[in-house]
Amino acid sequence: MSSEDARSSLIEQVRERFGARAVLTDPADLAPWLTDWRGRWHGRADGILAPADTGEAAAMVGLAAELGVPLVPQGGNTSMVGGATPPEDGSALVLSLRRMSRIRSIEAGSAVVEAGVILADLHTAAADQGQRFPLTLGARGSCTVGGLTATNAGGTQVLRFGTMRALVLGAEAVLADGSVHNGLSGLKKDNRGYSLDHLLIGSEGTLGVLTAVRVKLVPAITSRAVAWVGLSDPQRALALLRAMESVTDRIESFEILPEAALRRVVEHIPAARAPLQGAHSWHVLVEATSTASGSETPEQLLQRLLEDALADGTAADATISSSEGQAEAFWLLRDSISEAERASGMAAQHDISVPVDVMPRFMVEAAQQVERAFPGTEAFGYGHLGDGNIHFHVRAPTGAAAGWPEGNGKAVSRFVHDLVTEAGGSISAEHGIGQMKREELARLLPPARLRSLQAIKHALDPAGILNPGKLIG
Ligand code: FAD
Ligand code: LAC
Ligand code: ZN
Repeated sequence: MSSEDARSSLIEQVRERFGARAVLTDPADLAPWLTDWRGRWHGRADGILAPADTGEAAAMVGLAAELGVPLVPQGGNTSMVGGATPPEDGSALVLSLRRMSRIRSIEAGSAVVEAGVILADLHTAAADQGQRFPLTLGARGSCTVGGLTATNAGGTQVLRFGTMRALVLGAEAVLADGSVHNGLSGLKKDNRGYSLDHLLIGSEGTLGVLTAVRVKLVPAITSRAVAWVGLSDPQRALALLRAMESVTDRIESFEILPEAALRRVVEHIPAARAPLQGAHSWHVLVEATSTASGSETPEQLLQRLLEDALADGTAADATISSSEGQAEAFWLLRDSISEAERASGMAAQHDISVPVDVMPRFMVEAAQQVERAFPGTEAFGYGHLGDGNIHFHVRAPTGAAAGWPEGNGKAVSRFVHDLVTEAGGSISAEHGIGQMKREELARLLPPARLRSLQAIKHALDPAGILNPGKLIG
């Protein structure tokens, strides 16, 4: 059977067994799911398979394996690395988990959540029970728990609660042959060999299709305060974080951005307003929370810590949210950077980490080196300073030709990744490899680690059915 016939046969069999809702083939229905969020990769697919439960997902993967049809698992399609975009040649079908959006159970300290649950809905469901799922990011209105788990996503609360790896207590997944792994028991201790759950976290859809996960929940907060701080350089920003951490464990977000990024957010996002009067080269958003009433409030805590920072010159100016609305307004500025950058023209984006104490110098020196080596570019980093992870964007020179990202942009990325590697860092801190960084991973990952990834992929998906062309698949 030709590969085209195999795809048609899979679509027909799925429609026959699971009904019309389980398959989309209308080009208008497919279109939004064939291009990535940044509009950089454009794939083709004859259809999207959409299981309603784990049994249907297992049957679909089993049939695809029999027919040799590759599948691209997809959640909210917010990947920053083209991870959920199918190949251009139309050889694969998309397997969307979005219909699997039930919260199966919530108890004290954990919840069992299907892969297609939107992050914001999980936040609401946990809050309704007086609890909290402590991971958030700008795409929370559309990204799914399955995608977050498959990319081991981070976001803006990693400082205190860790990445998805720290918050996923177990996973249920369909493996490449259609069999089901069930790790949802919630066992605190289980040493029966390698952890399949942990292999699946961060596997980017190349080892299995996640159908549900048990996530950790923490007590809801009773109050929070958000401060916006202006300062002169990233070194002072890290000094501020260290000073705060030395007296409290209630800081849960600490995000840095340069003036240029703030300016573009204010330009492109209608509701955005700069919080401080004067201009500052760098800005920090810091959030403190409390889970208990009484004692010092988060606002009083930040007030006290920022008075010290203003007195000793670490910070140049600061303002603390006086209402929940103002706290949200500060967060809007931070969470809109990706949207504002997308609207601002061509750039080469990098999601990098180096040891936290090295990051302030790295941010400044790498930007200077890039701008020297590639005249006309503008380089800057923003993001999760406290995690040693920033998003390092290099904007194309004014008037650059449309092909810049695939030409000079790639040379810029190799240059940046070499600097990161020399500094002992990672070329993917939280977004994954997808199709964007495959070549760079092969170029820069130490051989022993690369061979191990290849061996794991081959062992769990010998026919290469799951997400071909991504990560190492
Ligand atoms: P998709 O984009 O659909 O898929 C992502 C990857 O996971 C693909 O490789 C796909 O094949 C795989 N996958 C999806 N679902 C499954 C499944 N059920 N089983 C197996 N594999 C699956 N990331 C961060 O880490 N931190 C941030 O702060 C952050 N901020 C963002 C802000 C914006 C505005 C945007 C657009 C993205 C941001 N991201 C961030 C990127 C991030 O990777 C995603 O938002 C999220 O992790 C992806 O979820 P998704 O459901 O959209 O997955
Ligand atoms: C952020 C995304 C890009 O931190 O990861 O805004
Ligand atoms: Zn980020």
